[in-house]
Amino acid sequence: MNILIIGAGGREHALADKIASSPICTGLFIAPGNAGTALLGKNINIDPNDFEAIKALVLQENIELVVVGPEAPLVAGISDYFSQDEALKSIAIIGPSAEGAQLEGSKAFAKEFMGRHGIPTAAYKYFQKEELDEALTYLSHHTLPVVLKADGLAAGKGVLICTTLEEAQREVEEMLSGKFGDASDTIVIEQFLSGIEFSAFVLTDGNQYVLLPEAKDYKRIGEGDTGLNTGGMGAVSPVSFVDEALSQKVLTQIIEPTIKGLREEKIKYKGFIFFGLIVVNNEPFVIEYNCRLGDPETEVIIPRLQTDLVELLLSAWHGTLSVSTINIDSRTAVTIVLASGGYPGAFEKGKTIKGLDHVDGSRIYHSGTSIYDKSVITSGGRVLAVTSMGSTLTRALEKSLINAETIQFEGKYYRRDIGKDLM
Ligand code: AMP
Ligand code: GLY
Repeated sequence: MNILIIGAGGREHALADKIASSPICTGLFIAPGNAGTALLGKNINIDPNDFEAIKALVLQENIELVVVGPEAPLVAGISDYFSQDEALKSIAIIGPSAEGAQLEGSKAFAKEFMGRHGIPTAAYKYFQKEELDEALTYLSHHTLPVVLKADGLAAGKGVLICTTLEEAQREVEEMLSGKFGDASDTIVIEQFLSGIEFSAFVLTDGNQYVLLPEAKDYKRIGEGDTGLNTGGMGAVSPVSFVDEALSQKVLTQIIEPTIKGLREEKIKYKGFIFFGLIVVNNEPFVIEYNCRLGDPETEVIIPRLQTDLVELLLSAWHGTLSVSTINIDSRTAVTIVLASGGYPGAFEKGKTIKGLDHVDGSRIYHSGTSIYDKSVITSGGRVLAVTSMGSTLTRALEKSLINAETIQFEGKYYRRDIGKDLM
């Protein structure tokens, strides 16, 4: 079967690596891919949001399975584009309908969905552009800190935690007047929850689901979780504090009601759901849904998956998933992201990456790389994810740290403390 992966990051490289290892996969295409995915299949330089170019590629290369990595094409309706097109409707596509993708694409939609299905989440209210006065009044009675969220996709920057009323008032005004473009035409004002975060993941066919390993992401740029937010500087799976009792609560109070809600509301959803969770006094709450896998979470989840991923994806498409079909490696996986100096602010690209041939005992997933004159060069803020497996988190981290040192490029930055809070 010829398979297409849409996207360009470490998530897509990890998916490509797993999919290429399946005996079902005879041809692999990645659009647009990066220098890492080029070693596993054919990179095709297409924008993930250019559905017509994707259609032409799918038909030309006889692609039978499409896996959508990032959220933007899902929110823009790529799955509906396939299901409404005579030539594409029989092709398996992994990723929800635009309606399902609203779980990520609209925070107000996600909050209302959770409300309808009794799924625990922070108390909230949402306001539209013309409701500035109502928003400011609501804010004036709110406890501090308060969380402000742009409703739409804002490249991971649309969440603000304000500690003073003045700051919150100013931000509400700025958001409703276009701070995040259309994404903040509607805002959610939300109760601040204090607790420890982790993420759960499922693959669903809209009816049944399989539970993938959980993960913890390290979002801040600085060690000890300090400094600016990033897309994620590292991840760990499994997460030691997620014991049997907590897992059961996540399943029964969050995951199952979500799947049941999608089914009851007849929302077409064949794809991954990422549950961003926070645990407060041993009770899990949903911070956010994403309609895709995470990056760098995928780089620790997928290496632990022992079941054939292509088989699972096809079961999701055909609606034949069953809970018992998945095997997970019990070892711990850790990934360290090597970033360009200056990220998440301004950074330079085009730095030659050396030492990839000397990596020993880790897998390297490319995030922001490309090929120039036969060399691998940096082309993004997050450049590589260095994943290792170990019988303990300490052993896995040691391996990733050694290989993070082995790989060289000008300005390389990484956190040395990924997972240390869990040891
Ligand atoms: P999001 O973009 O929705 O992932 O939010 C980014 C980060 O903001 C989350 O990972 C949390 O650390 C934090 N956050 C979001 N909502 C809340 C909340 N209600 N209470 C506390 N922290 C939150
Ligand atoms: N690492 C967070 C995300 O993928 O959204």
